[in-house]
Amino acid sequence: MQSNVLVIIGVGGIGMAIAKREGAGKIVLLADINEKNLTEAARDLVDTGYAVETQQVDVASQSSVESLAAKASTLGNVLQVVNTAGLSPNMASVTKLLEVDLLGAVYVLESFVNVIAEGGSCIHISSIAGHMIPALGADTDKALAVTPANELLNLPVLQPENVPNTTFAYCLSKRANHLRIQAESLKWAERGARVNSISPGIILTALAKHELDSPIGDGYRAMIQNSGAKRVGTVDEVASLAHYLLGPDSGFVTGSDFLIDGGVIAAMKLGKIAL
Ligand SMILES: NC(=O)c1ccc[n+]([C@@H]2O[C@H](COP(=O)([O-])OP(=O)(O)OC[C@H]3O[C@@H](n4cnc5c(N)ncnc54)[C@H](O)[C@@H]3O)[C@@H](O)[C@H]2O)c1
Repeated sequence: MQSNVLVIIGVGGIGMAIAKREGAGKIVLLADINEKNLTEAARDLVDTGYAVETQQVDVASQSSVESLAAKASTLGNVLQVVNTAGLSPNMASVTKLLEVDLLGAVYVLESFVNVIAEGGSCIHISSIAGHMIPALGADTDKALAVTPANELLNLPVLQPENVPNTTFAYCLSKRANHLRIQAESLKWAERGARVNSISPGIILTALAKHELDSPIGDGYRAMIQNSGAKRVGTVDEVASLAHYLLGPDSGFVTGSDFLIDGGVIAAMKLGKIAL
């Protein structure tokens, strides 16, 4: 019998929590752009009893993602794919954010739909940021959802005059993730598989610490203080939601985005936190 394969792209805080929650008894294929982090993450899992393979990947490169999907399919039944690779607003330029957080997500969806097993499930980690910007309009929504990958970054909404800073680039990328996943879910359904996104609020990982220590850290602290939960989230709480979406209990759920933010967006919509 073929082994089941769990693919984790991005071995940061959220990726590793999901790997540990879901990976027992499967082949865990870890992938990341950072070779050192990849080696350390693999060692951590091997030392605690998991069967691990690794491959370096840059999600902003179509050929790199295709090669990762090809490797996954040689390892067994590609049952679960989790894309957590991403950069935050204070980590990169507008161009780089759009390449990694927006286009990279499309490459993963388009490459892995070709190798996903029947009954398989994919999760993309989007962000609360995708819920923070105003509506883009039906035409722009559709363009972000269906424009071919090689033309996507030429869309007017993604040109420099419409993307004034990296925070907006991040928000747009994460909104585009929701739209793309909804559209792509129909192709995944043809393979008997599902795809959804999770939009976390502030989850204490290296990426979140980087943002909290940045010049806009006070804005994040205000979000936490004025939210319903009044605290940050943990990677294990995200992994619990991922467990539901990756497993059979969510068989009727596809093309959806799940906000897990301790009530930050609710407080923003009621005017308790400035947008
Ligand atoms: N932590 C939070 O508060 C939070 C909130 C909302 C959304 N998110 C999203 O969750 C995802 C995971 O975040 P995290 O908190 O685990 O961050 P993290 O920084 O701990 O992990 C992200 C990983 O992605 C990898 N990566 C970056 N660029 C890549 C590329 N081009 N190709 C392959 N790998 C690449 C990094 O090397 C890193 O290991 C990100 O997309 C982030 O935007 C995080």
